[in-house]
Formats: sequence, structure tokens, C-alpha cells
Amino acid sequence: MTARFLETVFTPAVLAAQAANGSREAFTHRLGADGPDRIGEPEAAFIGARDSFYLASVTETGWPYMQHRGGPPGFVKILDPATIGFADFRGNRQYISLGNASADDRVALFFMDYARRARLKLLGRMRAVDAGSDPDFVALLSDAGYKARVERAFVISVEAFEWNCSQHITPRFTAADLAPSVHAMRARIAELEAALAERDAAAGGPAG
Ligand SMILES: Cc1cc2nc3c(=O)[nH]c(=O)nc-3n(C[C@H](O)[C@H](O)[C@H](O)COP(=O)(O)O)c2cc1C
Repeated sequence: MTARFLETVFTPAVLAAQAANGSREAFTHRLGADGPDRIGEPEAAFIGARDSFYLASVTETGWPYMQHRGGPPGFVKILDPATIGFADFRGNRQYISLGNASADDRVALFFMDYARRARLKLLGRMRAVDAGSDPDFVALLSDAGYKARVERAFVISVEAFEWNCSQHITPRFTAADLAPSVHAMRARIAELEAALAERDAAAGGPAG
């Protein structure tokens, strides 16, 4: 938990809730940030391995709005320790995140690694860079070969991040995570089937 993260989300109402529930003192020694958080090696490696995340923006009417964003692993790029970005693919053309960020640039990103039961929350300020206005920059954030039409890049200035604990995260695995184990199991089954067939053949036919 970084001091910057806590200071950003500890609003007066949150502080009052902590006071009412007896936890306010528990955090006072963790405050005292000297500036926005900077992406380090653990955050860069974690973000760089993700194939999806959840993006929260704020509507002009104050509602939280959450959208799932996906792409090839590593589609969210670390531009420098203070900046990350990703390509915005053409989708349902509602442009809610785009519109929200144009009115209020504050966003939250939620990265999950279910297999390793780890998660990272990141707060930042998001701006759009249109593919027409800066094609080279948008190309830098796009992954060649990925089947999607990139309309723009979203660039996020990092404000703060927080690693969460693993409690209550059920491990889940993608097909790619499981592929090596499934491959090994299939090879072993084939080996056993071959051995059985050989034994049956030696005994003059299948047992039964
Ligand atoms: C044809 C098409 C239809 C889609 N329909 C939906 C939808 O109904 N709901 C949704 O949440 N995402 C949908 N998506 C994915 C979103 O368009 C995509 O995630 C996009 O980034 C939405 O951004 P926004 O929520 O900021 O407007 C669709 C994508 C495509 C290609």
C-alpha cells in the first residue's frame, strides 16, 4: 500500500468511516507521500504480463463506470515510470470511457492475475491520442498482428497504485496456462494406450 494511494482515496467521508469503525489510527503512520507513485520493476512486470484489465472512469453525473479491456499479453505498455498506455480498439461505438475521460480525466485500472492470486490497482489521469493526429505514437502502443482496429491510444499519467492481498481470490487458469500440463497428460495417456495395445496384441487380443 503506497502512501500516495491512501492519501488519494482517504477522503473526509472515508476518514470519518474509519474513525467510526476504529481503524483511523491504523493508517496514520503510512501517510506522508512525497509525490505521485512511480512504476517499478514489480509493477512493470505484472502489467506487462496481463491480457486484460478493468477500467473505471467517472461519468459527468458522478457515476462510476467500469469496462473490461482486453488484448494480447503486454498490450498495456509502460512508457516511462510515470506513464502507461494502451491501444483503444473499435468496439460498440458507445465511447463511454473516451467521453468520460474528456470531462474528468481520473481513472482507476484494476489488473488481476487469477492464476497467481495477485492484483494491482492503479489510479491515474487518462487522455486520448487519436490515431489520425499521431499515428506513430498510436502505432507504438499497438500490437502488430492482433486482430483489432485501433482508433486511438489512451495514455495514463500514474498517480498511485496499490497491491492487494490474495485473500478470497480463487485461482483460475487460462487455456494457455494449462497447455503445458494438458500436453504432458495427453502424452502420458498416449504412452499408456500404446503400452496397453502392445500388451493386448501380445496376449492375442483385447482382454474381456
Ligand atoms: C460489435 C461489438 C459489440 C460490443 N458490444 C458491447 C456491449 O454491448 N457491451 C460492452 O460492455 N462491450 C461491448 N463491446 C466491447 C466494447 O465495445 C469495448 O470494450 C469498448 O472498448 C467499449 O468502450 P466503452 O465502454 O468505454 O464505451 C462490443 C464490441 C464489439 C466489437
